[in-house]
Amino acid sequence: MNRLTGKVALVTGAGRGIGAAIARAFAAEGAAVVLAELDIATAQVTAREIAEATGAKVLAVQTDVTQSASVQAAVSEAQEALGPVDVLVNNAGINVFADPLTMTDDDWRRCFAVDLDGVWNGCRAVLPGMVERRAGSIINIASTHAFQIIPGCFPYPVAKHGVIGLTRALGIEYAPKNVRVNAIAPGYIETQLTHDWWNAQPDPEAARKATLALPPMKRIGKPEEVAMTAVFLASDEAPFINASCITIDGGRTALHHE
Ligand SMILES: NC(=O)c1ccc[n+]([C@@H]2O[C@H](COP(=O)([O-])OP(=O)(O)OC[C@H]3O[C@@H](n4cnc5c(N)ncnc54)[C@H](O)[C@@H]3O)[C@@H](O)[C@H]2O)c1
Repeated sequence: MNRLTGKVALVTGAGRGIGAAIARAFAAEGAAVVLAELDIATAQVTAREIAEATGAKVLAVQTDVTQSASVQAAVSEAQEALGPVDVLVNNAGINVFADPLTMTDDDWRRCFAVDLDGVWNGCRAVLPGMVERRAGSIINIASTHAFQIIPGCFPYPVAKHGVIGLTRALGIEYAPKNVRVNAIAPGYIETQLTHDWWNAQPDPEAARKATLALPPMKRIGKPEEVAMTAVFLASDEAPFINASCITIDGGRTALHHE
């Protein structure tokens, strides 16, 4: 399990959920990993657990992806402690689901600050070093909301569409410098985010069952199943995959209807 040996990876929002699974998988493949997370207490617990399980160098750094200076500071701290960042995963994200006409300006800004500005802030912090070294892999965690719309989920899908646009634009811009920028679009994955959404519905158990029935595989995904694809895109096994998006949804977005 040495597919990322010698690499330094920074994963945003890695205290729990998909980000934590990616950090764990990267460490298991030999990378030194930085968990750049708003909730530092959770990140420290996760970092300790990953270090004990894998023996990898793991660092937790308090980071707010909405603030470019905060992300820049995390990248600098990572570089000082572990070396230049070879792999960035822009994973931190929040659900903001509202009705367009009753949504507040604050809801709109909060969504874009984390889900789109946060991704750009990460890219901007690592790109100069990656361009200089002529090597790097950036992986942006989008969503199937990046190309399909569920009523009542505004403006989250607008921001996620933007993540795909950003991925394609930067992938093209920096391809001549051997920096690859790709996205992963997960469908429903079982994390705290998904549980919070179920629990916010009038009948949480009915909402959970309805979600599980949606994909043709009749289950939702696991964070580890997203992490495996992130390992592949981060590794030297994907040298010609650039400006692309890999969907992980058990076939749901290909399904017209049952
Ligand atoms: N769970 C799903 O079904 C699903 C599906 C598609 C896409 N996604 C995307 O995957 C990513 C991870 O989702 P998850 O389900 O693991 O969510 P999660 O809520 O379980 O974890 C998100 C993490 O990001 C952190 N975070 C939030 N705001 C931050 C900020 N400003 N700066 C730094 N860290 C911050 C949180 O503290 C948390 O630890 C998100 O981008 C989400 O949109 C999730």
